[in-house]
Amino acid sequence: MPDPDSSRTVGAVFWAFLRMVRSVVIHVFEGAKVMATGSGITTVFIAGSGFMGTGIAFLIATRTKAKVYIYDISKASLRKANETLEKYGRTSIDKKILDPEDVAEALKRIVSTERLQDAVYCDLVIEAIAENLEVKQELFKSLDEICDKKAIFASNTSSLSITSIAAATKRSDRVMGMHFFSPAHVMKLVELIPGFDTSDATLQTVTQFGNELGKTLIRSKDMPGFITTRLGLCLINEAAFALMEGLSTPEDIDQGMKLGYNHPMGPLELGDFVGLDIVLHVMEVLQEGFGDPKYRPCPVIKQLVNAGHLGRKTGRGFYKYEAKKC
Ligand SMILES: NC(=O)c1ccc[n+]([C@@H]2O[C@H](COP(=O)([O-])OP(=O)(O)OC[C@H]3O[C@@H](n4cnc5c(N)ncnc54)[C@H](O)[C@@H]3O)[C@@H](O)[C@H]2O)c1
Repeated sequence: MPDPDSSRTVGAVFWAFLRMVRSVVIHVFEGAKVMATGSGITTVFIAGSGFMGTGIAFLIATRTKAKVYIYDISKASLRKANETLEKYGRTSIDKKILDPEDVAEALKRIVSTERLQDAVYCDLVIEAIAENLEVKQELFKSLDEICDKKAIFASNTSSLSITSIAAATKRSDRVMGMHFFSPAHVMKLVELIPGFDTSDATLQTVTQFGNELGKTLIRSKDMPGFITTRLGLCLINEAAFALMEGLSTPEDIDQGMKLGYNHPMGPLELGDFVGLDIVLHVMEVLQEGFGDPKYRPCPVIKQLVNAGHLGRKTGRGFYKYEAKKC
């Protein structure tokens, strides 16, 4: 006959064991639930379906399970964005970066829209429209009326003041800079820029979301040009001054930085790639923002812009490009 005491002990041990398994299971699943929720961002509204907006939409749809709205005032831009998204998808499959099923599923989650009202559903806005403070402020002011009070607003501006953009809204604690690089789905870096009033909670959520996108994050204070635009464009401007002074030829200036400093592109080539109108605009923002003449735009850049030679996009800048008419 089994000893009733010993069977009680075995029963107690058994139930204690079950309780322990249950608590481990709950712990693991709760942990997994937190990990799966992460930033808590499930719907993203991208304003601007140009070059940057399209890359950001593809990145988010393929790296997360979020629903992505891509908005623009231009039908033509939205049409082009859809074609580009398809192209990015095909390239990712051809290069074996993504499976065809994953690409198809991700692209289905991207909705293109001309209705600003669709922002009502989002947890996060990423703005990538024209680099103009008044235009960005106007858009964020309208979004502020439409979006949930908890939604976070991020701007992809390369140079404008995040604090000034945030001031156009009634949620300046929930506005910050999220500066992607082109093309956004390929480049590893995202520069995070909290504005003057950005809360720690906003910074934490956006940091978590940046991690979910698989990006390397750097943080800059909200000063003109942040880290990357200030340093990158000052180098282009300085190379233009060197050219103007007759220091050397464009080819040798670029070769010097490519071979001497391991830069993948020389500064003059890079200026043509970025667009000389953009380089000029950013140098003006830096000069005005810091009030320091060391940021004055090089007259050669001004002259090229005045002549309509904006770099690769017009077929001529510091260099001539054969494919396009000069
Ligand atoms: N191009 C780059 O390499 C790069 C890199 C980092 C950051 N940025 C920044 O990203 C932003 C977008 O740059 P881009 O190169 O994609 O420009 P883009 O010209 O390719 O696209 C801008 C899009 O915004 C749309 N737009 C303009 N005003 C609008 C409005 N009020 N509402 C809705 N849509 C509007 C335009 O129709 C266009 O489709 C800029 O702030 C730029 O400084 C650009």
